[in-house]
Amino acid sequence: MRAVVVVLIIQLLVAQAAAGALDRMEAAPKGWHGNVFKQSFSFPKRPPIADSHPWEAISYRHEPKRYLETVLSYALEGQDRNNWRLQDNRVRRWTHMPWMGPGPTGRESIHGLTRERDFAAGELGAAQTECRQNWAVALYNPTGGYVLGQIWRSVVRGGAPDLIHLPFPAGTVVVKLVFTEATSDDTSLLAGAPEIDANIHTKGEGGDPACPVAEIAPRTPHRLRLIQLDLAIKEARADYKTGWVFASFFYNGRKPGNDPWAKLEPIGLMWGNDPYLSDADAAAGAKPIESMVFTDLGLGHALGRSGRMNGLVDERSSACSSCHMAAQWPTAAHMTAPAKWSQAKCWFRNLDARYPFGLEPNATTKCADLPTTSAMVPLDFSLQLAIGLRNWSLAHTSSSGAVRRTPLGRLRREGDRLIVNEVQSVEVRR
Ligand code: HEC
Repeated sequence: MRAVVVVLIIQLLVAQAAAGALDRMEAAPKGWHGNVFKQSFSFPKRPPIADSHPWEAISYRHEPKRYLETVLSYALEGQDRNNWRLQDNRVRRWTHMPWMGPGPTGRESIHGLTRERDFAAGELGAAQTECRQNWAVALYNPTGGYVLGQIWRSVVRGGAPDLIHLPFPAGTVVVKLVFTEATSDDTSLLAGAPEIDANIHTKGEGGDPACPVAEIAPRTPHRLRLIQLDLAIKEARADYKTGWVFASFFYNGRKPGNDPWAKLEPIGLMWGNDPYLSDADAAAGAKPIESMVFTDLGLGHALGRSGRMNGLVDERSSACSSCHMAAQWPTAAHMTAPAKWSQAKCWFRNLDARYPFGLEPNATTKCADLPTTSAMVPLDFSLQLAIGLRNWSLAHTSSSGAVRRTPLGRLRREGDRLIVNEVQSVEVRR
């Protein structure tokens, strides 16, 4: 009996040390008695071949809604829908991305949410008179979690992340739950939405309608509501485009019924960026053919550029897979497409996991030029991985500017700027 206890204690200590090597984040607020976030870093050690993926039998193009409902049920199955403790799921093991804790927008201590793009005043309708923060948490299914475990495996033993284990295989599903500070007073869409507490940035005194600046605002517990649920699904059938189906649901509090989780309605999906749909063509009436959008949520305007698929909380000048395609190491280009189409078109190519985004185009270089892409490694559309690698790198280089040689490249730090192989890495932030 005693031996069993000793073994259990040793296992617990090893697990704690591993968690320490895989993230660093804020402590719970003083006097807080509610839920405290715990990362799920128990990555599958073998490819999880037994996990069934029922959506793979459904065409995402011909039966998109049935396809999306099927992935959504898979995503919700066995989950603790109050606190999203992934450890409590008895059906399958979902995991978190390592190293999302540090930084002004990094994981908060109550439910591990990270700060997303804010809603400017009026975005949800005339009743929303103040800026509202949005915060989110993402989870990887066993197929994706296996790859994360491989990438971060040697970090637990003091080594560096290893990108050789990318790309994510078909069957990877990443779910992102987005919670908002907005309430049903701002929009009736939020009536009865599932709630969650989070340690978010606090407004200063004086009723300022702007959102607090992450770098300087203190954090205090607030209640948030579910507004959006995003899905990224690696699809063998989308191979000839980006390889990923991106999709989103919104919470519709106007729908009758008692089960809030039955009120998630699909916004749409995309499997390609529509490279040939220029801003000018769209203004002349052309529509995307690699996005399918079911609703504008009554807002009277499209959510993504030229009608491409996008979420309620995302930048209008962009689209789901456009932003995510910029995930590369080092992160040498901003993720959000610029205003001018002559440059923005780089963000609407159909690259897949084999091709890095490269440098941002400028007056002399085009996005597809070989010299602009040869120094980067594609991260297969995972912006969380880009953030995690950057945070790990910043934590493992000294502010004195000394170069550290790692399998991720020659890392150097100037303040909170990270330079990788003499390429300036940009922060992945909205
Ligand atoms: C303006 C850029 C942008 C757009 C547009 C965007 N995302 Fe993201 N997304 C991000 C960033 C940055 C992260 C990582 C930070 C985080 O998780 O908070 C992220 C994270 C995610 C994740 C977690 C896994 C990962 O790849 O990092 C999923 C899933 C996701 N987004 C899905 C979507 C879907 C679906 C859409 C469209 C409805 C979308 N995103 C639109 C920037 C964007």
